Amino acid sequence: MLKNDMMETLVRTGPGTLMGNLIRRYWVPALLSSEIAEPDGPQVRVKILGERLLAFRDTNGRVGLVDEFCRHRGASLFLGRNEECGIRCSYHGWKYDISGRCVDLPSSPEAASKVSITAYPCIERAGIVWAYMGPKEKQPEPPEIEWCLLPDSHRFVSKRLQESNYLQAFEGGIDSSHVAWVHRFEMDADPMHNRSKANGIIKRSSNVVFQIEEVPSGLLIFARREVDASSYYWRITQYLFPWFTLIPPFGDHPLGGHMWIPIDDENCWAWSINFLPSQPLEDGDRKDMEAGKGIHVEYIPGTFRPTANRDNDWLIDRKAQKEKKSYSGVAGFSIQDASLQESMGPIQNHAQEFLMPTDRAIVLARRLLHRSAVDLENGTEPPAVNASSQRVRSAAVILDKSVDVKEWARLNLHDALNKPVFTL
Ligand code: FES
Ligand SMILES: [Fe+2]
Repeated sequence: MLKNDMMETLVRTGPGTLMGNLIRRYWVPALLSSEIAEPDGPQVRVKILGERLLAFRDTNGRVGLVDEFCRHRGASLFLGRNEECGIRCSYHGWKYDISGRCVDLPSSPEAASKVSITAYPCIERAGIVWAYMGPKEKQPEPPEIEWCLLPDSHRFVSKRLQESNYLQAFEGGIDSSHVAWVHRFEMDADPMHNRSKANGIIKRSSNVVFQIEEVPSGLLIFARREVDASSYYWRITQYLFPWFTLIPPFGDHPLGGHMWIPIDDENCWAWSINFLPSQPLEDGDRKDMEAGKGIHVEYIPGTFRPTANRDNDWLIDRKAQKEKKSYSGVAGFSIQDASLQESMGPIQNHAQEFLMPTDRAIVLARRLLHRSAVDLENGTEPPAVNASSQRVRSAAVILDKSVDVKEWARLNLHDALNKPVFTL
């Protein structure tokens, strides 16, 4: 398959596309539960995987995710009334419940049973509404990634709008080699990263050696840096198919992870999660996260669009760049990533890229996604639908050079939720 055809397949996720069919086999994070906090409260528009939907919480507290538009003459149900266990279109009063069934059609009540709109089953986990948008009989178990299973006190979740295709955003999450460049000064200054003893090692070693292993859950990405004559510092990232990453930890700071979910082909949601496996987050850390530190961002009030965005050149500060306060002049981990990824254009021109050995994780992730999409089209079930395969951890660890790191990871990071956290 020509590379351009492969990339074209990977970046398109609308209904009926190969990638779209593949990722509709997993629970898709659709919105924060807090966006529809109240029963019968205001409904919100949700666009994911190129579909324009509407989310609401009904009188009984159940979540509905339905087509945004009324089946009658196509008016937006955003203008409708959320009341008495359904959404009623404001134009002529047709009413739909969370399963998309028309439960009232005032002008011809007998016709209501013949009318419905698209509706996707939803679950709530980790303060997130997850939707299943695939064939009914193939619905998988709910996600079991560690941060999904913890009490709310142990976790902080945010999402931000990224104005680029999901693929170039996701690829930043498995590209361990960029950390020592664009994030270089953040590692000492950011309150969510500055307590790691390994920051010096990361900055000293620009020559990172990568090994990547395909495992049932996705990919394990090993980044190796020399510490001294007898030991290596390993940062081990987990890529959990199809869109989760677990970031290797920094010192005793909360663990972190991301998800990148297509809104349409030119925009995505970047979800960022911090958590502690066995204790509540400290108040100070939670305040920092709420203030947009670490992997979170500050927003334009009332939106999920970051204050620093492409319309204002991500608030680039040339003085801060000269004075080595930020490497690119853009502040903050997430906006540094978003700025570079959005700067590639809404869909990166992959025909023009020039990949190197440090990009191997990106190449392998693309192949895995592409192969899975093509295989599904040919009748092979997708990988990693078994939620228990998500019970893994990332790690940051110094090991003797004689240790076989893949074997070490099998013992310590697989089925890891009751094992120690490896960090320094
Ligand atoms: S357009 Fe919705 S009821 Fe007529
Ligand atoms: Fe980054």
